[in-house]
Amino acid sequence: MENIRKNLRTRFIGRQIHYFTELGSTQELAIYMAENSQAVNGAVILAEQQDKGIGRLKSRWISPDGGIWFSIILKPLMPASKSPLLSFTAALAVCESIAQQTNLQSKVKWPNDILINHKKVCGILLDLATKGDRVEYAVIGIGINANVNIEKILPYLHDSKHSDVTVTSLKNELSGKCVDRPAFLKLLLERFELYYDRLQKDDGSSIIVNKIKDRLEYNSVTIEQGNKTIEGAIIGLGLDGSLLIKQNDGSSVEVIFGDTRTRE
Ligand code: BTN
Repeated sequence: MENIRKNLRTRFIGRQIHYFTELGSTQELAIYMAENSQAVNGAVILAEQQDKGIGRLKSRWISPDGGIWFSIILKPLMPASKSPLLSFTAALAVCESIAQQTNLQSKVKWPNDILINHKKVCGILLDLATKGDRVEYAVIGIGINANVNIEKILPYLHDSKHSDVTVTSLKNELSGKCVDRPAFLKLLLERFELYYDRLQKDDGSSIIVNKIKDRLEYNSVTIEQGNKTIEGAIIGLGLDGSLLIKQNDGSSVEVIFGDTRTRE
C-alpha cells in the first residue's frame, strides 16, 4: 500500500502520503497535523490497522487488517456552508471506485454511509475547522471494509450507535475474492481529486448532488437533531447537500445536519 504514490495520477491528492502499519487513528493524526500546519493540501494519512479508529458520533470504528483506512487533509477554497458536499464528493468517489473495481452496485445512505445490498461497507467522517464562513481545513476520514473478514467486526456491533445497519466487506460481497487494495486506493484518490476540483467551481455543487441523487437510498428516516425528532420519507436533495423530507403529517422539511436512522 505504501507504494501507491508511484503510479498515482493526481496533482495534489496523495502527493504526500504518511503510511503506518499500525496507528491509533488516521483521523486523529490528520487533525493534529492540520492544526499544527504540518501537512500540505491533499496529504493522506494511511494505516493498515487502527486500534483507536473513530466513527461518527464518537463511536468506535473497528479497523482490522485488510481494510482501507485513511484521512485526507484539505484546505478548500469554499464557504463553510458548502462543506457538507465534501462528504458527498468522497462518497461519490468511493461508489464509482467500487463499481469500476468490482462491478458491485453501492448506495449512499445520507449523510455518508456507503451500502451494498443494504449493508454498510464504508463510513465517511468529516471534521472541519472554520473561521467565519471560511473553511480553514477539512479532514475527510474514509474507512472501507475492503478485504476485511467481517467476523472480525461483527462482535463489536451490538454496542455501536449504528447497530441498525448490518455490515459487509467488498470481499464478503465478492464471495471471498479479495480486491486489489493499492489499485482501489489509487483509483479512489484520482476520482476524489476529479470531483473535488469540480466542487470548487461555481456549478460544481449541482454536478455532485445530481450524481449522488442517483445513488441515494430513498428510504424512511428518523432524524434526531438535538432534542427534536423528524420522521418521514426522503424525497430529495438540495444543492447544498441538505435532505428534503416529507413528514408523516404531509408537510415537507429540509434537514442540513443530523444522523439518520433507517426505519424498517
Ligand atoms: C462512520 O461512523 O461511519 C465513519 C467512520 C470513519 C472511519 C474512518 S477510518 C479512517 C479514518 N480514521 C478514523 O479513525 N476514522 C476514519
